[in-house]
Amino acid sequence: MEHILRIKDIVKKFGDFTAVDSISLDIKKGEIFGILGPNGAGKTTTINMILGLLKPTSGSITINGIDIAKHGNDVKKMMGLMTQETVVDGDLTARDNLEIFAKLYHVPDSKIPGKVKEALAESELTEFADKKAGTFSGGMQRRLALVKSMIQDPMLLILDEPTTGLDIQNRVSMWGHIKGLIKIGVTIILTTQYLEEADALCDRIAIIDHGKIKAIGTASELKRMVGTGRVLEIVLESEVQAQSAASLLKSRFKINPIVKGDRLDAIIEKWDPKMLPEMLSLLEKKKLIVSSVNVHFPTLDDVFIKLTGSGMRDSASNEYVSARSSAMVRGR
Ligand SMILES: Nc1ncnc2c1ncn2[C@@H]1O[C@H](COP(=O)(O)OP(=O)(O)OP(=O)(O)O)[C@@H](O)[C@H]1O
Ligand SMILES: [Mg+2]
Repeated sequence: MEHILRIKDIVKKFGDFTAVDSISLDIKKGEIFGILGPNGAGKTTTINMILGLLKPTSGSITINGIDIAKHGNDVKKMMGLMTQETVVDGDLTARDNLEIFAKLYHVPDSKIPGKVKEALAESELTEFADKKAGTFSGGMQRRLALVKSMIQDPMLLILDEPTTGLDIQNRVSMWGHIKGLIKIGVTIILTTQYLEEADALCDRIAIIDHGKIKAIGTASELKRMVGTGRVLEIVLESEVQAQSAASLLKSRFKINPIVKGDRLDAIIEKWDPKMLPEMLSLLEKKKLIVSSVNVHFPTLDDVFIKLTGSGMRDSASNEYVSARSSAMVRGR
């Protein structure tokens, strides 16, 4: 398998603080590779080193066999970037944004009109081509930024949190646009705080936390790390009840629940459908009131909890949990 990017033992220190702590990665041509981690995990720092914007404290990065420390300018031409802060010029029209960027990246003049037309169509912005980008919604601006990052036909496209801050409809629409890019054969590195985004888009995922890789694999490989069993979630009337239920289930069923507020989560390695009615009748006998129950196959969230001992630390996790809770309600 041909590797487009090889990262070997990169470390980045800011003073005494180690933001990236010996990361090694090989990324294959044509794959969508996800770097998944919470706020401050070291995603942008890693990306900035790949882009040559930050010099690693130690370690090496090669792109297409070229060492970026020695030939930074050569490799920069091969890369496209969409940053965390959407960069489209609000005072310019969508068309002008694309044309100026194409010129900046030395796209031959004869090719620019065709490229711009294609980019407008891909981003579903053709009818807004001559409107100022500043009047666009957040989703439209991101779509414009995405096609802008592709205008010079990069072989490696880096998307740093392309959907952070977007509502769920716009996020799902961006996933469609990103998936469309793979057909052209470009390799994509995508960072995200959203577990479901990594699950939906990425061929392989590295979970990073505190500057270290905790696991690498396909979404299914990562999920298998949790085991072939099930994840059980029970919501009780109160936190006190959840604590009592957790110790009761722990001693009776040899499981190890984690309590979060009024909810307990447990990974059950050997799932037997008979367990659930037994558990519920035990809780009822002890006058513990169950307000909802959910049994599901492991998700990346469960992998993350298993690897780091906690859920994602940011607002993304709340949204994920609430999305999951609503799915739970619908399923009942
Ligand atoms: N220039 C800098 N000087 C000092 N510390 C920095 C600098 N850049 C990043 N850091 C720290 O390094 C850590 C990793 O930051 P980074 O921006 O890479 O995280 P991230 O995973 O991209 O997070 P987010 O999801 O919030 O974008 C953080 O603790 C951050 O405060
Ligand atoms: Mg970042």
